[in-house]
Amino acid sequence: MAIFVSPEEKLKQDKYISAVLSLVGGQGKKAFVYTLGCQQNEADSEKIMGLLLQMGYEKTDDEKEADILIVNTCAIREHAEKRALSIIGRFKHYKVARPDIVIGVCGCMTAQEHRANQLKHSYHYVDFTLGTGALHLLAELVLNALSKGKRRFLLDEETPKIAEGLLPVRESSFRAWVSIMYGCNNFCTYCIVPYVRGRERSRKMQDILDEIRELAKKGYREITLLGQNVNSYGKDLEDKPTIADLLNEIAKIEGDFIIHLMTSHPKDASREMIEAITKDKRTKSHFHLPLQSGSDAVLKRMNRHYDTQRYLDIIKELKSKNPDIVLTTDIIVGFPTETEEDFQKTLDIIKEVEFDTIYSFIYSPRKGTPAYSMEQISEDVKHERYERFCQVQNEIANKLNQKMQGKIYRVLVDGKSKGNEKMYTSRTEGNKIVHFECDTDHTGQFVNVKITRADTFNLFGEIIN
Ligand code: 5AD
Ligand code: SF4
Repeated sequence: MAIFVSPEEKLKQDKYISAVLSLVGGQGKKAFVYTLGCQQNEADSEKIMGLLLQMGYEKTDDEKEADILIVNTCAIREHAEKRALSIIGRFKHYKVARPDIVIGVCGCMTAQEHRANQLKHSYHYVDFTLGTGALHLLAELVLNALSKGKRRFLLDEETPKIAEGLLPVRESSFRAWVSIMYGCNNFCTYCIVPYVRGRERSRKMQDILDEIRELAKKGYREITLLGQNVNSYGKDLEDKPTIADLLNEIAKIEGDFIIHLMTSHPKDASREMIEAITKDKRTKSHFHLPLQSGSDAVLKRMNRHYDTQRYLDIIKELKSKNPDIVLTTDIIVGFPTETEEDFQKTLDIIKEVEFDTIYSFIYSPRKGTPAYSMEQISEDVKHERYERFCQVQNEIANKLNQKMQGKIYRVLVDGKSKGNEKMYTSRTEGNKIVHFECDTDHTGQFVNVKITRADTFNLFGEIIN
């Protein structure tokens, strides 16, 4: 099955782009994209905006003045879906006031049949939906909506594809997302992603390297390699390159930039991959490795294919190669059947590893996944455990932050902090946020900062010349 958009399809879509351009171009029509969810969605939104600009729209950050509104949705937890529906609901009055505007919904939520039906039947002002593997069809859908064609709800009409050559409108001029693969084959029992983003599809190594070379040439200072499980990069490609091969090739590209990998699966974390990330100083400072639970019984029911011993072995190897590495993880609290004993094991392992940051989530049942029909634990117990979890992790984070005091770190400056003209926000190479005061604006540049104060959630420093 072809996973790449064919040249014929590309040509067809280019014609739709030109057709929309001839309808809306040069009239100052505006496009607004609202993004929910993960970095993958942010990257997709940048591509969506790129396509809209090609169609003749101008980007706006003010939804009220938009002629086309797109909501890029997330389905990972119920809360994200509720937010998406409320935003789509908010957009209704724009369409009532100006029936000529176009409203589209894309992203993970739209790939679920019950949600696509809900949008079709209860949100009559939505012109189209579009799954994450079909972004290249956007112009066709926009043209259809502009010419008052039938509303389109693309569910399984198209096999998810990879479209090369889309020109993203990047939100930042110094931090960039580079998708290296799409989809997921792992079917962790709690997770909706494999159902809504389809099977793993890797981009060709050459296309990824070209994109990174281009970013390096433009002076980008941080590049995040994106994929649901970047460790299994290449398995679906003909010549089977591995993530280690890719990293070794990236290492040959010159440039002063930091590289993050987001995100990895412990079952596929190979020795070669660890060697590759610790060999390049641009990748060695930070590693994100989702653990999900500290109980082997729960990991089994999550279908994670590793146990805590294997996880700890990987951490040991990472730390032995690079003692200063910043480790971050994902944890789910309150997975179905989780006992107090299971939960204690999660607390034990996070105390043992001492992660700098944990992205922790209360389990959210997702219709269509195996865990949805497992024995659920009560909301009260989930919340009570989550509170205890946060207390333990906050103490660890505070301790690790205190240890940074007095030390000097190279940070990439994000920009001014809100509410104080002279305060700037920046991130260390290990991705920790540091605030500092400065008279000069160094946004988008690396500077050295000495940490002078630390608490659980914040690090403060002073700039060192
Ligand atoms: N409920 C709570 N958290 C979830 N995640 C994925 N699915 C769910 C769910 N149903 C978390 C996992 C994953 C992160 C991106 O989101 O920890 O690593
Ligand atoms: Fe979801 Fe598991 Fe795939 Fe990550 S690896 S996207 S948690 S199914």
